[in-house]
Amino acid sequence: MTRIYSSLGHSARRTVPGHSKIGHKEHPMGKVIAVANQKGGVGKTTTSVNFAASLAASERPTLLLDMDPQANGTSGLGIDPRTVPLSVYEVLAGVAPIEQTILQTEMPFLDVVPSHINLVGAEIEMIGMHEREQVLKRALRIVRHRYDFVVIDCPPSLGLLTLNALTASDSVIIPVQAEYFALEGLGQLLNTIKIVRQHLNPELEIEGVLMTMFDPRLRLASQVASEVRRFFGDKVFSAVIHRNVRVAEAPSYGKPVILYDVVSKGARNYLALAQEVIHNTSDFEVQSVPPESSAKSDALGDGLSSPSEAGSPPSEPEDTLVRATSSVRVPSRVNEPAVESDDHVNMSASPGLSHPRTH
Ligand SMILES: Nc1ncnc2c1ncn2[C@@H]1O[C@H](COP(=O)(O)OP(=O)(O)O)[C@@H](O)[C@H]1O
Ligand SMILES: [Mg+2]
Repeated sequence: MTRIYSSLGHSARRTVPGHSKIGHKEHPMGKVIAVANQKGGVGKTTTSVNFAASLAASERPTLLLDMDPQANGTSGLGIDPRTVPLSVYEVLAGVAPIEQTILQTEMPFLDVVPSHINLVGAEIEMIGMHEREQVLKRALRIVRHRYDFVVIDCPPSLGLLTLNALTASDSVIIPVQAEYFALEGLGQLLNTIKIVRQHLNPELEIEGVLMTMFDPRLRLASQVASEVRRFFGDKVFSAVIHRNVRVAEAPSYGKPVILYDVVSKGARNYLALAQEVIHNTSDFEVQSVPPESSAKSDALGDGLSSPSEAGSPPSEPEDTLVRATSSVRVPSRVNEPAVESDDHVNMSASPGLSHPRTH
């Protein structure tokens, strides 16, 4: 891993006027997109880094905000999280303004707010904080106008860090791995999105569901992909991220895949995703900064900080799914009862819609 940091040598460079191209942007206020799924290993960090880098490659000023204490997104951009002077932890703790934490990357249009292992304690430390789900949203108001896009890599839980990310975001990308149990747990995530909409961030939309680690040689992968499309309809991105060894290798060189091997399948997949989101965002209406939310910090109750409570089964699972996707292009078939498609993939009716599960 040392080659990452020594070869790039920009582990702690702050953004300075003049170096980065950031400042020349189209949207008065950037679009904030969280990459979330409480399951680990589905491709959140890989997607955050490579999607953000692909937006930057399209000369869209982009900020990657690393909300995962594991800090793999930070190191994946060649920055040693052990040496960063300030991280998102200090922002959430209220001891540093976000602009002091922003670092440049190798790419002129890409900045990063790094993570730090300290972030692992942040959820506990924030418990007594006033409006603790809205700390990140408030912090981002200061800098989001500098960027076209802010991409937030969420940790693998539905705790307070993810709640802060969803509350601060305009939309969410849900990576889904094309394998057994792909849909397991998505009901919990959709329910959390619904609750965030009700209490904290009514504007939150689902940007799209992203198939990751797709292997076209596996019949199962195609079956899962078509089942995900049956379930989410046109909320599934046309871009599909294939399983690609270059994508997996790139982080050990501290590079997004487009800098590591631009002609690889993975690089092309992530560039396609960026183009799709840029296209979908062309009519993104920039909202004026809303007044401070009247939602109480504990409107959700302490339980929402706990994945188990946040994910407790909704009483009306089908209704939950429909409403969780209601502000976006909801396919009519989402309203239909789930069907058993074949021997391999099965989403039974109840509680299957809220806890879809492959067999
Ligand atoms: N398209 C891909 N092709 C090959 N390996 C991938 C791909 N996407 C992710 N991986 C690998 O899968 C593992 C989990 O991915 P990661 O992005 O860290 O997931 P998460 O952030 O959801 O936990 C990592 O080792 C990563 O390199
Ligand atoms: Mg991750």
